[in-house]
Amino acid sequence: APKGSKSPFGFTPIQPQPAGTDKVVVPEGFVWSTIISWGDPIISGAPEFDFEKQSAKAQEGQFGYNNDYTVLIPGPDANRGTLVCNNEYTNDDLMFRGYTGSAGLTNEQLRISMAAHGMSVVAVRRRNPRDQWRHVRIDRVNRRVTATTPFQVDGPAAGHTLLKTSADTSGRRVLGTFGNCSGGVTPWGTVLSGEENFNGYFSAATAPADQADAYKRYGLTGSKGRGWERVDQRFDAVQEPNEVNRFGWVVELDPSDPSSTPVKHTAMGRLKHEGANVTIAPDGRVVAYMGDDERFDYLYKFVSHGKYQKGDSRKARQNNLSLLSSGDLYVAKFTGDGFEDGISDGTGYWLPLVVDDTSYVAGMSVAEVLVWTRLAADKVGPTKMDRPEDVEPNLVNGRTYVVCTNNSSRQPSQIDEANPRANNKHGHIIELVPSRGDDTTTTFTWKIVLIAGDPNDPTTYFNGYDRSEVSPISCPDNVAFDHEGNMWIATDGNALGACDGMYLYPLSGPHKGHLQQFLSVPAYSECCGPLVTWDQKTVLAAVQHPGETEGASPAAPASQFPYQGDGQPRPSVIQIRQR
Ligand code: FEO
Ligand code: CA
Ligand code: CA
Ligand code: CA
Repeated sequence: APKGSKSPFGFTPIQPQPAGTDKVVVPEGFVWSTIISWGDPIISGAPEFDFEKQSAKAQEGQFGYNNDYTVLIPGPDANRGTLVCNNEYTNDDLMFRGYTGSAGLTNEQLRISMAAHGMSVVAVRRRNPRDQWRHVRIDRVNRRVTATTPFQVDGPAAGHTLLKTSADTSGRRVLGTFGNCSGGVTPWGTVLSGEENFNGYFSAATAPADQADAYKRYGLTGSKGRGWERVDQRFDAVQEPNEVNRFGWVVELDPSDPSSTPVKHTAMGRLKHEGANVTIAPDGRVVAYMGDDERFDYLYKFVSHGKYQKGDSRKARQNNLSLLSSGDLYVAKFTGDGFEDGISDGTGYWLPLVVDDTSYVAGMSVAEVLVWTRLAADKVGPTKMDRPEDVEPNLVNGRTYVVCTNNSSRQPSQIDEANPRANNKHGHIIELVPSRGDDTTTTFTWKIVLIAGDPNDPTTYFNGYDRSEVSPISCPDNVAFDHEGNMWIATDGNALGACDGMYLYPLSGPHKGHLQQFLSVPAYSECCGPLVTWDQKTVLAAVQHPGETEGASPAAPASQFPYQGDGQPRPSVIQIRQR
């Protein structure tokens, strides 16, 4: 293995590929292949993908568009698993010939887009551990969740007036999920998914007078929507002002039971949730870390009231499926210890929003804090971050990593030690260490472990590693950890003139900070996932929005990934293995 690699994936780092390179590039000795692509049928009766013959009915049984969060859950044996993906959004200009804007889409095309959103669950199989993974076209677990799938709402805000609409006077039953960005997997086998940029799906010419502040804070005021209101009036916020409050939640899906109703957990707050990742505290309570992905927004933590029970018994399952329904919600404040020591570090405090079913925010009830979490947090003085995306506990070292992707709007007068760069085009990653090794405590210490960019730029920082030996990196977004606790970083929006990609970043040992590029993804795609499989034989990447350019069209797409000969780009999950 070349120097620097402590993982079983010894490799020589690849060179960055110039922006627009329409290739998947992996290190020497590695191969990539596609596991599944947008449009592949996964439900009985769904037709083979045909770009020229799309229908909403077909799409409802086919793998969704723009795969973001990706997880492979092992079992029932070593050569089988369940792949779960978020399908964040659609590139309608690349899906439909002759696209002229959402106003020109037919009702059927609007319904195709709605059906291509949400989540996809699909069984995967391999012949043996040296074989590649293939998706299973028909399997008991295969499922599509779309913008129209019924969800149950639970937690303290369920049934609140703000969640009631003319179609759902209970305020407890919502149709659909969309804008699902990142996510996490729980120790009890469910998948968490963050509803992120939900605001863009609503047509909201004006805000209701009694929700004007919230509409503004969540980016709803003036939203033009995507035309969905033409086929479903609930997307017209003027007609249905509370429908927006039914999105922006963390969703929990049980992929083992395709008949289960997925849940929106109001106890975890409503924001532009990037995702949620959990760890189990020493006393058994579940702690979920969550980022609100917007410039100058906040980092949150949820602590369950109940305790995790090990095992598969019916009783343990029922207990665990209720853990995220009730708990305490906090928002983070970072304090620096001064720049004089040459590193960005300090202490932090979790400011209470709701604890023991009591609101800690003046003038707001528990339900209001949970529905209007951004407004509540604004009142308690947390630290405004540079777009917190994935926030993920590293179960090997017990520390949590906060990925701040970028914030080019931060002015020199607005820097603080946790967000130390003005015009932060390339992002950074912060490591949190909970007090006493207990994630339920309200204090932590922190340190920036990566300041991304061109290593020749003296403001970059690679955890003390020699900058002349690392790969350039920009806009870290999603992360994963392997069994040694190394971080794998996927990027979105490389601002160095290169394609996005995936990188190995050791967090301990002699090569701590030795960042090495492992993957480059095709033209104008972002790299999602990532995932190192449980046997550490495969790395998964979700290639999202290949060919996403200004004025993109199927007539001349900038990408043809995954190169299946039909001339059209298709977001796909790929695997990378040693040859
Ligand atoms: Fe969908 Fe936060 O990126
Ligand atoms: Ca310092
Ligand atoms: Ca993201
Ligand atoms: Ca992203």
